[in-house]
Amino acid sequence: MLHENLSVNEKGHLCIAGKDTIELIEKHGSPLMVMDEERIRRNMRIYKEAMSKHFGEGSYPLFASKAFSCKYIYRLCKEEKIGIDLVSSGELYTAVASGFDVKRAFFHGNNKTDYDIKCAMDCGVGHFVVDNLTELDRINEMAAERNKVQPVILRLTPGIDPHTHAAVVTGRVDSKFGIAIETGQADEAVEYTLSKKNVRLCGFHCHIGSQIFDIKPFCDAAKIMIKYISHVKEKFGYDISVLNLGGGFGVKYIESQPELDYEEFIRLIANYIHEEVNNSGINMPTIVMEPGRSIVADSGLTLYTVGGTKEIPGFKSYVSVDGGMPDNPRYALYGSDYTVCLASRMNDEKNFECTVAGRCCESGDILQENVLLPKPERGDILAVLVTGAYNYSMASNYNRIPRPCVVGIANSKEFTIIKRETFEDLIRHDV
Ligand code: LLP
Repeated sequence: MLHENLSVNEKGHLCIAGKDTIELIEKHGSPLMVMDEERIRRNMRIYKEAMSKHFGEGSYPLFASKAFSCKYIYRLCKEEKIGIDLVSSGELYTAVASGFDVKRAFFHGNNKTDYDIKCAMDCGVGHFVVDNLTELDRINEMAAERNKVQPVILRLTPGIDPHTHAAVVTGRVDSKFGIAIETGQADEAVEYTLSKKNVRLCGFHCHIGSQIFDIKPFCDAAKIMIKYISHVKEKFGYDISVLNLGGGFGVKYIESQPELDYEEFIRLIANYIHEEVNNSGINMPTIVMEPGRSIVADSGLTLYTVGGTKEIPGFKSYVSVDGGMPDNPRYALYGSDYTVCLASRMNDEKNFECTVAGRCCESGDILQENVLLPKPERGDILAVLVTGAYNYSMASNYNRIPRPCVVGIANSKEFTIIKRETFEDLIRHDV
């Protein structure tokens, strides 16, 4: 199977973390998202251990909240002693509500509102990742009002194109994020930040993109950032102590993609960084990384119940399910690859080529095309694998469809992570 937490039992049913998915859906209803806690913890530990081993004590991962933000995941981050990255006061509120100490949080975003800055500062967020100088002014003013000096890092664009989907490329000079090194604006930003009394410049951040399988763009970005740190030391006589390299490691969604060895990736990037740092004469900064997808994606799957199957002779066939773009908009947005299987009949011959469609009143509501399945019947259970990242966090109520329930599995026990939305939830704010 695609990942080692997936298997098929003697009934020919798909299992995750040893649990029969058909029994799960009978118990918790459809559609259903399932998360394997052991897998999430394993992924967090790989990053934590590899980073401190290869980058040195003090280097640590931040879970990128945007991949899956809910109280449960922040409790795991706390237990596994990793930090978090936040991009809104909503994510911040969720983290605080879970009991997470946001001293270990970095607050991102290319347009932090005054309210975001106020909330984050009042909650004691550890670092702001500053995206532009107008927000730096507000951070400085608000810190002065509170009589404190706020640690900040500047988000820079190293000018790297990692050749991934255009919507998730972020490190190019023309990106909406960050301050470009190439144009000289980074120097202006450094000078400006150093002139402000109530912020302390701790470091720099870059994030080149997401779902990247190649190590080279990470090394290229690190090289540019180290060179820049050395330039800042020379030009401003200022030592940078934190280098945040963002997230972006790829995850295997389909058989033809590799399963990356993250520890090995980190080891190779670390070797490269140590060499660059040695050659440049700066002190080794504390390296921070912000994995999102590679922490949660492969721990999750989504189960749906099959409704109608439509065959159009000479054209194509559709299989419709009871969810779709409201719980997983990624195919509609990016044409994302997914492995789809008939969880209720894993051993049957796959001889029916089809498009898996969602239930929304929109032709773009497709989960995957050119899928080979045993011919599904109404009531069969269909699974979309590797949906733990950017699915629930990007879900909507389009067509007033309630968001599904998210169930977790740990030590062979099931528990609810997020309850299924009710119709009452849907009209809660309607006046
Ligand atoms: N740090 C920053 C500043 C980011 O912008 C991102 C992702 C991450 C970390 C985490 O990257 P990851 O390790 O998950 O690749 N909605 C898209 C993905 C958008 C990613 C945005 N930024 C998707 O569904 O593929």
